[in-house]
Amino acid sequence: MKFLDAIEKRLLEELNPKVRLVLETGRYIVESGGKRLRPLFTVLTCGLCGGNPERALPLGVGLEYIHVASLLHDDIVDGAKTRRGKRSANLVFGNGVAVLTGDYMYAKALHLFSTYGNIEMIRVVSEAVMDMAEGQVLEISKVGDIISEEEYFRIIDGKTAVLFGACFGVGGLSANCKEWEELKKAGISIGRAFQLIDDLLDYAGDPQKLGKPVGNDLREGKCTYPLISVLGELNRDYVKRVLRGLEEPEALRQKVIELGGVEKTRERARRELERAREILNRFEDNEYKKEILKLVDFVVDRNI
Ligand code: IPE
Ligand code: IPE
Ligand code: MG
Ligand code: MG
Ligand code: MG
Repeated sequence: MKFLDAIEKRLLEELNPKVRLVLETGRYIVESGGKRLRPLFTVLTCGLCGGNPERALPLGVGLEYIHVASLLHDDIVDGAKTRRGKRSANLVFGNGVAVLTGDYMYAKALHLFSTYGNIEMIRVVSEAVMDMAEGQVLEISKVGDIISEEEYFRIIDGKTAVLFGACFGVGGLSANCKEWEELKKAGISIGRAFQLIDDLLDYAGDPQKLGKPVGNDLREGKCTYPLISVLGELNRDYVKRVLRGLEEPEALRQKVIELGGVEKTRERARRELERAREILNRFEDNEYKKEILKLVDFVVDRNI
């Protein structure tokens, strides 16, 4: 991918805290890889709208910093031990350093937007970060409970989809595109599909490829789409006991797979992507559009 090297380079260049331990922690997570989907979508959307993608590069980098900050915080919240194939930053540096480096990255993103962006972009991005925090808290408040499909989408729209929405919105704004709000909607659908697949992979993915363990969601008491999609065929009291840690989760994980929860989740993700494609296809064909549509296909077919 054309912009990937430029993104990697800028991600490291912009990370310049004065305190060594912040630099070490920031680099630890940034250099451990990641798919860089958010900056790629930002830069490509700028190109889709006829803008110069180079202009959107520092904005895409800012959005990846926000993502990285959310991962640092998420791993503390989830008590995770592995991230991007390595020991998670909270395990290596401790919760205090990880949470504060996350704060640093959020502010660094804001700083990039104040230099290379504009007030409208800052509004879109800050709304996304508020929604992310709310989505994460909403998820915590439902741990151990069976939730409805509606509650599930409220959670994932907040914790994941809105940031994808911001990437597309900012990409559009950076090219002065009048339809940037439509692009933001396409991004939200893509983000929904992305989290649906993340939740599917937590049931049936390969931990080696993913760089994080599977089966965590059930173990943490989280009711996600694969389970919700087959709830009608399960005993609710049994499911509640698993979610509350009173029964081991492995048998339920197998049962959800057997009942087709994985296929149903992929199907639901495909439907979201159809909505995104419908919006994207209103834009004129160009090389950037082609790349965006390729990445959109990757979102449902991925195993990483
Ligand atoms: C992981 O995001 C967190 C979720 C929103 C599911 P990614 O799967 O995009 O993580 P990296 O950046 O590629 O590691
Ligand atoms: C992550 O959701 C959402 C954010 C980072 C805001 P998950 O908790 O499912 O992500 P993973 O599975 O740990 O990557
Ligand atoms: Mg997590
Ligand atoms: Mg989480
Ligand atoms: Mg997950």
